[in-house]
Amino acid sequence: MEGNIITEAEFKELHFQGAPKVITEIPGPKSRAILEKQKLLDSSVVSYPLTYRFALEVGKGATLMDVDGNIFIDFSAGVSVCNVGYSNPDVLEVVKNQADKIIHTLDIPTQARIDILEALSKIAPGNMKGNSRVVFGGPTGSDAVEAAIKLAKINKKGYRIITFEGGYHGQTSGSLAATAKKSYKENYIPLIPGIVHVPYPYCYRCPFGKEADACDMECLRYIDHLFEDPYSGLVQPAGMIVEPIQGESGIIIPPKKFIQGLAKLCQENDVLFVCDEIQAGLGRTGKWWGCEHFDVTPDAITIAKSIGGIGFPLAGMIYKKEFDVWGPGDHAGTFRGNVLGCAAGAAAIKFTEEKRLVKRSAELGDYAFKTLKDLQDEVNHIGDVRGKGLFLGVEFVEDKDTKKPAEDLLKKVVAKCLERGVVVWKGGHWINVARFIPALTITKELLFKGLEIFSEVVKELDKTS
Ligand SMILES: Cc1ncc(COP(=O)(O)O)c(C=O)c1O
Repeated sequence: MEGNIITEAEFKELHFQGAPKVITEIPGPKSRAILEKQKLLDSSVVSYPLTYRFALEVGKGATLMDVDGNIFIDFSAGVSVCNVGYSNPDVLEVVKNQADKIIHTLDIPTQARIDILEALSKIAPGNMKGNSRVVFGGPTGSDAVEAAIKLAKINKKGYRIITFEGGYHGQTSGSLAATAKKSYKENYIPLIPGIVHVPYPYCYRCPFGKEADACDMECLRYIDHLFEDPYSGLVQPAGMIVEPIQGESGIIIPPKKFIQGLAKLCQENDVLFVCDEIQAGLGRTGKWWGCEHFDVTPDAITIAKSIGGIGFPLAGMIYKKEFDVWGPGDHAGTFRGNVLGCAAGAAAIKFTEEKRLVKRSAELGDYAFKTLKDLQDEVNHIGDVRGKGLFLGVEFVEDKDTKKPAEDLLKKVVAKCLERGVVVWKGGHWINVARFIPALTITKELLFKGLEIFSEVVKELDKTS
């Protein structure tokens, strides 16, 4: 294994040299023409180009080149999809070889499918390791969440699913019902019945109005009470689905006791305990899985995004063998385990192991966290900095006392960073959280440079806001 560790210089080759390099206004002329065409032809649901005003030509590691030749440092990795970097050459080679052979086989096995099943069984969390099954259904994370809901229903009494305020689980009917954001849902209700949202410990804005030092885990006690009190209104749930660290709602890290308490409650009350690892999983947080920060082993974890290696749509769920009670065709789909996705995912796991990217995420994340914390001390509009590994959030507020969310300020920060060649991602309950989720292969140099530009932009705008 030692021989496989690559040096910082070798990591450098995975990205465009000299990033960022901005040679036109953003968007440049070629990007503008493509964006105009997209506007005429694409659906009005398209959303990212409203903020990220460019058309893309090449992705390389943690860098992106647009059609005008501008090169950006990318802090999004396609929302945690390309943990091993855009077009990772090792993964690409495996994919190209596979593409020459066969690309679609439904769930008839290929070596690529076996490779990824073996790899997932090996890296599964806790006592799921070597004691798990994997289901691949449809190709997106939302389908993985649908699978989790079905697994809970077939294994347990009842049909209700407990999910959490601030949670994002997707946009198909079941997963959208589990998602907390009201605006995504209000035009499409009713969705599936039986979803119960309960508070999540967003400690910076505690739903129970507590300060961290005066907290008695009211959030956990409330859920406990739902189970304990015969008059709480909660009829026996089949499952609970929780992000061990919330992503879309602003990188929210719960106390260890909370996730441990949920696991215990589920076990005591015969509820399937599912961690949604779609965004936090596969090394992103400095451990293979988000749940490992809390020393719990869920009954099942949902996987998508980076499991497709370098952007292939592949999604599924790893679950303990004892819950494998469903029958042939019970969670089917035409693309139930796309072969290129399987090949890419297995190669990406191998690359992550060989190049020790999980450790790298933890180390680079520590550095980035400290840099962002220092920035918080220097400015008036950063209320909170949170993170584990390369999964970091910076929450913007109008002032630190009132904590009023500063969505417009973040919009300006993101736009200015883009003009200077840095892609900063947005999130949060009020879209006031800057997210840093770069490829785990990012070099120290690119990370430092990107954070330096972000810091300069924030300091400049902080003075005038
Ligand atoms: C935690 C989590 N679950 C589920 C999903 C849904 O995945 P997809 O967008 O691939 O359907 C996402 C997407 O961001 C997510 O972050």
